[in-house]
Amino acid sequence: MTASKHLIALLRSHIDGDNEQFLSVAMQVAAHEARQGHGNLAQQLRDLVDEARSRKARRSNRPVPLAQPKGDLAALVSASYADTRLSSMVLPEELEQRLKRIITEQRQHHLLTAHGLKPRRKILLIGPPGAGKTMTASALAGELTLPLFTVVFEALITRFMGETASKLRLVFDAMAETRGVYFFDEFDAIGARRAERNDVGEIRRVLNSFLQFLENDESDSLIVAATNHPELLDPALFRRFDDVIHYDLPDVTIAERILKARLALFETKGLPWKTISKETTGLSQAEIARAADEAAKRAILSDRTTVTRDDLLASLAERKSTTQ
Ligand SMILES: Nc1ncnc2c1ncn2[C@@H]1O[C@H](COP(=O)(O)OP(=O)(O)OP(=O)(O)O)[C@@H](O)[C@H]1O
Ligand SMILES: [Mg+2]
Repeated sequence: MTASKHLIALLRSHIDGDNEQFLSVAMQVAAHEARQGHGNLAQQLRDLVDEARSRKARRSNRPVPLAQPKGDLAALVSASYADTRLSSMVLPEELEQRLKRIITEQRQHHLLTAHGLKPRRKILLIGPPGAGKTMTASALAGELTLPLFTVVFEALITRFMGETASKLRLVFDAMAETRGVYFFDEFDAIGARRAERNDVGEIRRVLNSFLQFLENDESDSLIVAATNHPELLDPALFRRFDDVIHYDLPDVTIAERILKARLALFETKGLPWKTISKETTGLSQAEIARAADEAAKRAILSDRTTVTRDDLLASLAERKSTTQ
């Protein structure tokens, strides 16, 4: 090819927005120059192409720009980026596998959709306070490098009483517009408030419209709802979700792993873990993580580089007394 043919090919790919083609023509030019004996020029061209490719790769790893919700939507959802990873959660094997499956299906959503299949994307998390539901929503967003939009249901209902359904539509419209993890926290608010007689009608409407929006939603976003009170939810709701995931308080093995992970900066090998982990029964993951932090503080403030059995036992006992 002559120089002007190359130029035409470059312009054509630029007009078409075909970045890959553009770079491949540039590589052809480099090869052409090399054949002409212009080694330096050829190398410069190749370096530029490499630079363009590596920048592009870096850019595509970055999360999509965070669209800050505006207007009424801003009062309904809070947007953030999560850097939580699944690996920072200590989970029973089965639960971990289920979360990994969601992540894999989401990462491959183009592939699945191309085959007429739908990735899991409507997820209900059920479990006691402090068992890691909110952390899971963050970890899903973090792993998928998607923005996390948290919708607090309770706020939605109290703030927009009488027009909740239309506000809910705003949230679902946003889902179609900006791909993200949409986390409906305190989801039980819907169920709990049904008991209050004066807003029964409104709660019914909210629930019905939520069901309808959930069912009709075909966006690429991930919908994660969390509740402490599944018994308050309408059974009709459960069927609308692709996955219903249960969280429990930790057993001693999980508890021990949370403590150790949390104290990773300290020497913990010689500690009597059997005795210590026995003292975690009844405590949630959140309380155990907190006890570990408290034990770490005790050690640091006493100018020690090790956490002792007594640090841990005292912190755990303190957690227990504040929760009972
Ligand atoms: N599986 C876990 N592994 C490690 N740490 C955990 C885990 N689950 C919870 N934690 C710790 O507990 C904290 C609180 O958990 P989280 O807020 O996710 O609980 P939750 O289930 O959303 O509770 P709530 O129902 O009160 O909203 C987390 O920030 C984390 O420090
Ligand atoms: Mg939570």
